[in-house]
Amino acid sequence: MATILVPGGAGFIGSHTVIALVNAGYDVVIFDNFSNSKPTVLERLKKILGKNIPFVCGDIRNREQIENVFEQYKIDGVINFAGLKAVGESVKKPLEYYDNNVHGARTLLQVMREYQCHNFIFSSSATVYGEPDSVPLTESSPVKRANSPYGQTKIDIEYMCQELQIAAPEFSMVLLRYFNPVGAHESGLIGEDPKGIPNNLMPYLCQVAVGRLPHLNVFGNDYPTPDGTCVRDYIHVVDLAEGHVAALKHCLNVPGVHIYNLGTGIGYSVLDMVKAFSKAMGRELPYKIAPRRAGDVVQCYADPALAKKELGWSAKKNLDQMAADSYNWQKNNPNGYDD
Ligand code: NAD
Ligand code: UD1
Repeated sequence: MATILVPGGAGFIGSHTVIALVNAGYDVVIFDNFSNSKPTVLERLKKILGKNIPFVCGDIRNREQIENVFEQYKIDGVINFAGLKAVGESVKKPLEYYDNNVHGARTLLQVMREYQCHNFIFSSSATVYGEPDSVPLTESSPVKRANSPYGQTKIDIEYMCQELQIAAPEFSMVLLRYFNPVGAHESGLIGEDPKGIPNNLMPYLCQVAVGRLPHLNVFGNDYPTPDGTCVRDYIHVVDLAEGHVAALKHCLNVPGVHIYNLGTGIGYSVLDMVKAFSKAMGRELPYKIAPRRAGDVVQCYADPALAKKELGWSAKKNLDQMAADSYNWQKNNPNGYDD
């Protein structure tokens, strides 16, 4: 079976994908600098998988460190989760975001070329679609100029992959556009553990649920949606992880640029999520209506038909399971990996 290098494999989506890869029979090497994760995740993975997963501590911007991995292991493909992802922070630190994300991805691709490894899967985002003209979004919906440096790094890396694939046609470039990943592994041993006050809805709800924050601020209830709050395509991280395995099976050693939306195809509002979370907790989650957040898109959900047709993959878990698994993770780990 193929050996897959997973930069960013200690993070939220990466750690869940490592489990899916190992369960599907792949050999995995995790590479991470822990800039947004903790070494504890490796122990948790060992507990879940019953074995140690090879790990190298390093930075994707450091060519020598990546070359050392390729010297040590025969790597068949790379799934790159390593990146900075806080939209607001990226506005304040654009150069750091271009350096970490774009320069990091470029360095990885250079080393891959040097070692004749031609399979690259990239964590892109629905943010490349900007404010959609219409929903659901298909892969051929227009990619717009991003409204943050973070989003622009995703667009830049997508273009870089496409341009390299023209110059080096042996590459299989898989660009996976995630919608809104939430939930956690059913064991409650791994999950999302953001630093500081969360920016995103689900980790915020989780921290309200365990009393770390007093209430949720719902950013605007006067949008042109059924209940006035914004609509998103929330997808369980375990489904998302399986989407990577399906993409790997379908695209490994198939040269070309392969672009897929990974979402459920269902749009839920902020208040739908609050209801599902309250159900998971068994009591009402406190929330207040607050002003709109600058830069929010009104509604964003996928047409996931292409992934179903070509990869044979579709999301299985519903909103209640997303809320229940997120809550289970946070309840068992009120302070995340710091316990
Ligand atoms: P995360 O922060 O939990 O995981 C990213 C991991 O990469 C962390 O473990 C971090 O320490 C590591 N990392 C960052 N920069 C690195 C570097 N230079 N060298 C080595 N390791 C580095 O984030 P996540 O939610 O798991 O997201 C993974 C990827 O998916 C990111 O690229 C993100 O932009 C993308 N994405 C995430 C979402 C989301 O909502 N979570 C949505 C769309 C796309
Ligand atoms: C955010 C990013 C987007 C990124 C995506 C994936 C912004 C402006 N956009 O998108 O670029 O690709 O995450 O991680 O940050 N909400 C509240 N209260 C909160 C938090 C969120 O009401 O405390 C609402 C938001 O207004 C939104 C929904 O919940 O309507 C989801 O928000 P969030 O989880 O931040 O995801 P996105 O807005 O989709």
